[in-house]
Amino acid sequence: MAEVLLEVNHLRTEFKKRKGKVTAIDDVSFHIDKGEIVGLVGESGCGKSVTSLSIMRLLRDTPGEITNGTVLLGGKNLLELSDKEMHAFQGKQMAMIFQEPMTSLNPVMRVKEQIVEAIRLHLDMDQAQALKHTEKMLTQVGIPDVQQVMNSYPHQLSGGMSQRVMIAMAMSCYPELLIADEPTTALDVTIQAQILDLMRELNQKNGMSILLITHDLGVVAEMCSRVIVMYAGRIVEQADVETLFAHPRNPYTQGLLASLPRLGQHVDMLPSIPGTVPDLANMPAGCKFAPRCKYAMDICTKEEPKLVDMEKPGCKCRCWLVEQQMKEEGKA
Ligand SMILES: Nc1ncnc2c1ncn2[C@@H]1O[C@H](COP(=O)(O)OP(=O)(O)O)[C@@H](O)[C@H]1O
Ligand SMILES: [Mg+2]
Repeated sequence: MAEVLLEVNHLRTEFKKRKGKVTAIDDVSFHIDKGEIVGLVGESGCGKSVTSLSIMRLLRDTPGEITNGTVLLGGKNLLELSDKEMHAFQGKQMAMIFQEPMTSLNPVMRVKEQIVEAIRLHLDMDQAQALKHTEKMLTQVGIPDVQQVMNSYPHQLSGGMSQRVMIAMAMSCYPELLIADEPTTALDVTIQAQILDLMRELNQKNGMSILLITHDLGVVAEMCSRVIVMYAGRIVEQADVETLFAHPRNPYTQGLLASLPRLGQHVDMLPSIPGTVPDLANMPAGCKFAPRCKYAMDICTKEEPKLVDMEKPGCKCRCWLVEQQMKEEGKA
C-alpha cells in the first residue's frame, strides 16, 4: 500500500486586485505518494505556478492569499506552521525549482557559499564534505567548469547556468518532495535530458517524490506515473499516464494531446485549441472551458460540472458530456 506524502485539500488562492478579489485556483485537491512522480499540465495561465507557490507558502511577495484548504506534508498541515517551522521544512523536506532561477538564488553570495550553507543546515556534513557534495551536485546537472561556477556570484552566470545551479541546490539536500515548475524549459535538449535523468535517479534511489509541472506532454509520458490537468485554476482531469494518453476524457485534455507534435509533422501544422484561457476577473458562468469547447451543450454554459470519479480507480474528470456518457453507459 502506497504511503501518501503530500495531500492538498480544497485549496483556494485569491489575488487582491484594485477592483476586489480574483480566484486564481479553486477547490484544488490531489495527493502525491512517497516516491511518486506526478505531472501537472495545462496551458500558460491555468494556475500551475500559483498551485506550487501556495503549497510552498511562497506567495508572500505577491498580492496572493490562500483563503481555503489544507496542505498536508507527512500529515502536517503546512498552512498552520509558523514562518520559522515552515522555513525548516523548506529545503530539507521540500524544495522547489522555479521557472525563474534568480528568485531562489541569493545575489550577494557566491554559488558555493549558498549551496554549502543549505547543505550544512540540513545534512549532517562538515565544511569539507559539504564542499565536495556541492561539487558533485553541480557536476551532475551538467556544469562543465564547476570550480569557476562555484566561485561566481549568480549575476555572473548565464540564464541556463543559473538554472542549473538552482536545480543542483534544490536537490542537494535530498528533499522528500521536489516541486519542479517548468524546470528545463529554458535549457537546451541535452541538458534538459541530463536534468530529467538526475531527477529520475533521485526518485529511484532516494524515493524523492516529484510534482513535475510542464507543458511538455512528452516529458510527462516519460517521467510521470500520474497526471493532473488544470484549466482556469481547476483540476479538470486526473488519471494514470497510460489512461490519460490512451483515453483522455475531458475535451480540454484531448485538445492538449492533439497539440502534441508527431514525428515528421511540421510544427506550423499543429492543431491548437482555439481561443484563450479566460481572464480571472471575467470567468464564464458554467464550465470554464465551455466557450472554447466544440462539444459545449446548454448546461455547460450555465452550471459548472464537478470533478467526478471515472470507472477506473484514481481517474477523475470534470465535464458534463463525460458525465452524460457515463450515465448512458450505466456506469454512474
Ligand atoms: N502575482 C500575481 N498577481 C496577480 N495575479 C497573478 C499573480 N500570479 C499569477 N496570477 C494569475 O493567476 C493565474 C494563474 O497563473 P499561474 O499559476 O502563473 O499560471 P501557470 O503557471 O499555469 O502558467 C493567472 O491568471 C495569473 O494572471
Ligand atoms: Mg507557471
